[in-house]
Amino acid sequence: MITTKYFFLLTLITASFVFTLLYRWFSTKVILADKLPVHIGDGNDEQLIHSSVNHWQTSTGKVDDQTTYRNFDEKFVIIYNRVPKTGSTSFVNLTYDLCKKNAFHVLHINITANMHVLSLPNQLKFVRNITAWDSMKPAFYHGHMAFLDFSKFGMPSKPLYINLIRQPLDRLVSYYYFLRYGDDYRPYLVRHRAGDTMTFDECVSRQKPDCDPTNMWLQIPFFCGHHAECWKPGSSWALEQAKRNLVNEYFLVGLTEEMDEFIELLELSLPRLYRGAVAHFQKSNKSHLRKTKSKVEPAPETVAKIKESTVWQMENELYEFARDQFHFVQKKLRTPGRSMMQDFLYEKIKPNQNGPSKN
Ligand SMILES: *[C@@H]1O[C@H](CO)[C@@H](O)[C@H](O)[C@H]1NC(C)=O
Ligand SMILES: *[C@@H]1O[C@H](CO)[C@@H](O)[C@H](O)[C@H]1NC(C)=O
Ligand SMILES: *[C@@H]1O[C@H](CO)[C@@H](O)[C@H](O)[C@H]1NC(C)=O
Ligand SMILES: *[C@@H]1O[C@H](CO)[C@@H](O)[C@H](O)[C@H]1NC(C)=O
Repeated sequence: MITTKYFFLLTLITASFVFTLLYRWFSTKVILADKLPVHIGDGNDEQLIHSSVNHWQTSTGKVDDQTTYRNFDEKFVIIYNRVPKTGSTSFVNLTYDLCKKNAFHVLHINITANMHVLSLPNQLKFVRNITAWDSMKPAFYHGHMAFLDFSKFGMPSKPLYINLIRQPLDRLVSYYYFLRYGDDYRPYLVRHRAGDTMTFDECVSRQKPDCDPTNMWLQIPFFCGHHAECWKPGSSWALEQAKRNLVNEYFLVGLTEEMDEFIELLELSLPRLYRGAVAHFQKSNKSHLRKTKSKVEPAPETVAKIKESTVWQMENELYEFARDQFHFVQKKLRTPGRSMMQDFLYEKIKPNQNGPSKN
């Protein structure tokens, strides 16, 4: 009769309510436990606790590298748009040595006639090819090309750019002698100016084109990019753009003079590619790889003369900007006492899924 009917309905409603509640409680628990595997232990413990009750009894979650990078690591792309004569050969050689052991691909970008700027059709082709070429990922591309902004081609993801920068006069002098004498990396190769024995000092005092300060205008355009203004020696817009790209678009820019520190930062931040890099670099003595032969240090008068030029001053400004940024990044690696690595963890994780707990 009526009461029985009502009773039946009431039971049905209560049952479905209880069921919904149970279902929601259970699914959130499982999803959260899947999404936030919390690392419990002393930092060396590799084991992750996914769904055990212990998960909810801890008030802190140490952030584990394995989980933080697990998915991104297999898909990412690094572009190292190396500037000539900045020690790039040693660094690339190290990366080639690591690629087999750490299972990633290294590819050289060879552009017709060593041009530093890609044509418009090639820009699009390059950007699409790198983005879509999944079988190469994780990948490290290197080549002497100017920075290329992926976001203006409508790509869903950007690569990580890295680079090295060197004191501009050192780079020029190194390049000057490199053209004449080559290096000990490929000693058999005859260089463009082989046979010419003029020193850099003589070249500067005779105002020859090879040591024209305008030749130093290279690190600024490499960081600035594919715009016409980037390639106008002395352009202050180009300098500003290079600085902005350096901090906004580059994951890390190291210094040729401090290669060890650069490699250490890469190993710490991108262990997927650079695990073991510091030890390998020290062991193999690569810091001495590719030394330009017969290099003569320029005389103080020569240095003073070069430093008068606008191009040197601007290139040096970019170098100092990069150096300050790199030192800042390096300093923040450890606690002010310089001994302990900085760490971070999650805590006060709410809501507390197991009802009242110990914290
Ligand atoms: C790296 O340099 C060493 C010489 O120091 C050489 O033996 C090795 O083959 C180089 N590796 C690559 C991949 O070029
Ligand atoms: C780039 O490719 C050209 C044409 O295939 C080749 O002649 C040249 O040696 C390559 N450059 C390097 C640095 O391998
Ligand atoms: C990228 O270019 C290379 C060389 O032309 C080609 O072999 C490869 O299939 C391309 N990858 C994609 C995803 O288009
Ligand atoms: C590393 O290179 C330096 C300078 O060339 C040399 O003096 C030193 O003996 C080398 N060390 C090793 C282990 O090869």
